[in-house]
Amino acid sequence: MNLTLKIWRQKDAKSAGKMETYPISNVSPDSSFLEMLDLLNNELIDKGEDPVAFDHDCREGICGMCSLYINGEAHGPDRGVTTCQLHMRMFKDGDTIYIEPFRSKAFPVIKDLVVDRSSFDRIQHAGGFVSVNTSGNTQDANAIPVPKRDADKAFDAATCIGCGACVATCKNGSAMLYVSAKVSQFAYLPQGRVEATERVLNMVEQMDKEGFGNCTNTGACEVECPKGISLEFIAKMNKEYLKAATCAEK
Ligand code: SF4
Ligand code: FES
Repeated sequence: MNLTLKIWRQKDAKSAGKMETYPISNVSPDSSFLEMLDLLNNELIDKGEDPVAFDHDCREGICGMCSLYINGEAHGPDRGVTTCQLHMRMFKDGDTIYIEPFRSKAFPVIKDLVVDRSSFDRIQHAGGFVSVNTSGNTQDANAIPVPKRDADKAFDAATCIGCGACVATCKNGSAMLYVSAKVSQFAYLPQGRVEATERVLNMVEQMDKEGFGNCTNTGACEVECPKGISLEFIAKMNKEYLKAATCAEK
């Protein structure tokens, strides 16, 4: 395949960026999108030019590091896959492909296609964990029966990989889908109930501090989420939040 790539280039967080054009040839339809960018970077390095910076790690849809906005869609035109799982067979020979970073006020660009998503880490630190007594007297987790329906819901929520596609896709730059998944994965389990009140209050407070927008129920986040995280979890988080805020007032 022969393609034309239009890629966002930005030297650093302070410099202005712009789209640059790169023709690329001999791309295998069986290669992944990131392998196609590797090919481009090898050519740029051979020519003594600065390679395009982009995030990646596992390259198998698990870590949440890859984060490209491709032809106006977070993670590109395929459904239910991350950028690293996107294959070039989704494009046609002769196509022009626009590649941009995940844009949001809370995700500032660091360089080219790499954005700073540490705001997600700070939300996790605010409550996305269960405190466990590791003194040797820890109760076996299986000693507490969990209804199958709740276990399934918790597992579905836990599949969020923290990529940020929901934020990049949302017209408001809202992080509600991400935070609701992180709150819900514990809220459905008895082990998560112990700290449930402070967890949801602290995580939502941190989300607001980071500058994410508000949710207006558009639902674009659910459509673009590579892990199929459901809007139902936003409803679950709102319920948890109202309950916690009422308790905190008493
Ligand atoms: S909810 Fe989906 S889109 Fe958002 S961070 Fe999690 S996996 Fe990524
Ligand atoms: S590189 Fe890990 S999910 Fe894409």
